[in-house]
Amino acid sequence: MAIDPAGGPQRDTWGSKTAFVLAAAGSAIGLGNIWGFPTVAAQNGGAAFLVIYLLAVALIGAPVMLAELVVGRHTQRNPVGAFKAIMPGSAWWLVGALGVLTGLMILSFYSVIAGWTLAYILKTATGVFGPDADTGAIFTNLAGDPLQALFWHFLFMVITIAVVVKGVRDGIERWTKVLMPLLFVLLLLLAARAVTLSGGGEGLSFYLNPDFSEVDGRVVLAAVGQAFFSLSLGMGAMITYGSYISKNQDLESSAGWVTGFDTLIAILAGLIIFPTLFHAGLDPNQSGPGMVFVVLTSLLSTIPPAPYGGIVFGTGFFMLLAIAALTSSVSLLEVVTSWGVDEKGWTRKKAAWLIGGAAFVIGIPSALANGAVSWLSAGWPQGPDFLSFMFVVWGQYSLVVGALLISVFVAWVWGVKAAGEEVGADGTGFTTEKLWRFLIRYVCPIAILGVLWTLIEPLF
Ligand code: TRP
Repeated sequence: MAIDPAGGPQRDTWGSKTAFVLAAAGSAIGLGNIWGFPTVAAQNGGAAFLVIYLLAVALIGAPVMLAELVVGRHTQRNPVGAFKAIMPGSAWWLVGALGVLTGLMILSFYSVIAGWTLAYILKTATGVFGPDADTGAIFTNLAGDPLQALFWHFLFMVITIAVVVKGVRDGIERWTKVLMPLLFVLLLLLAARAVTLSGGGEGLSFYLNPDFSEVDGRVVLAAVGQAFFSLSLGMGAMITYGSYISKNQDLESSAGWVTGFDTLIAILAGLIIFPTLFHAGLDPNQSGPGMVFVVLTSLLSTIPPAPYGGIVFGTGFFMLLAIAALTSSVSLLEVVTSWGVDEKGWTRKKAAWLIGGAAFVIGIPSALANGAVSWLSAGWPQGPDFLSFMFVVWGQYSLVVGALLISVFVAWVWGVKAAGEEVGADGTGFTTEKLWRFLIRYVCPIAILGVLWTLIEPLF
């Protein structure tokens, strides 16, 4: 237990550095890696996207991760309270407020996709994905049926709320310790199977042979946005998680580990999805929110011995994916809940149920946007389905704007000196301080502004 420096209520802290790294990695690793990354990469040209993504993670993601953690540990507050604590009487708390709102919105559609993973546990366990299975139709039947889509969305949200009600130590920590490493091993095995499929080579070259001719501002924005989404940055999740870190833990290496793990898992997911996509003869440019589910399940029937290999691997995989999604959705709800507890004075229980309930309701149109209601599914008058629309607005744009403001705040308002002192406060020093200062002061704001500008510029 750490004592709030301002004399407020006592706050939970993580049990150890490993526990924190795993919990933060649990927040970062989720549908964003296994569902989001391949989907966005497919829509944005494959390998060229991967290169830009890796640059975005290294040059922008990692420094912003450290910036968020340091604000959190320094203030031991939720995102709104953290800005108020460092800059009292200013308008900077609005950045935290934007983050809280963004968390609520992301949670609303995240739970829809995570609900599909729950349904898929049942489907794989009962052997639905044999060699003759029409994996596309199975997805359409699930996501296009309003009752099923809403039921799984509801169930997943209730589980998320139940975990958050229990609090940091008992709720979040316990899950991640064993299950994250297990997910990693399973992904390695699936990747080994996927790259050896016939036609897999074509998928690998789509994924690994960059063609930069089609890269434009939109692709770069998608890469930067995806990096923030995948690393859980830009809305204060890492401020909140950082607020539970005790003063003697090494922030710098924690940030490095979380960023590294998360990126590794995303790359692995691509190694599974792209070879299988080409093996199954699907078109990456046509990929919507269901693509990863369709592609993954068509991999299952190729795992020997049929049908048991697919059943065992598939069930195990979707269970782990659901848990990875849960440790992420928990972090989303945790941010908004900690705001309700600290700023509104609600009990944790009341905050989690109220906010989780609101996220369920806001998520209803997203749940109905994959075939159940046609105008939500097709977009109006045209354009993406409602879920994809929410993903782009809240999961990409809002995070990019949030990360810009957070990096400007830490670099120029609070100041790199004060932030650096907090990083070094654990006594392990701050090895990459010069590099971090340069990245957070110049590279992050300028690169993010540049990306936003390429989108706004055509309007003038
Ligand atoms: N990073 C998670 C994923 O990849 C999703 C997530 C959890 C998130 N918390 C977040 C995204 C905070 C943005 C901000 O699935």
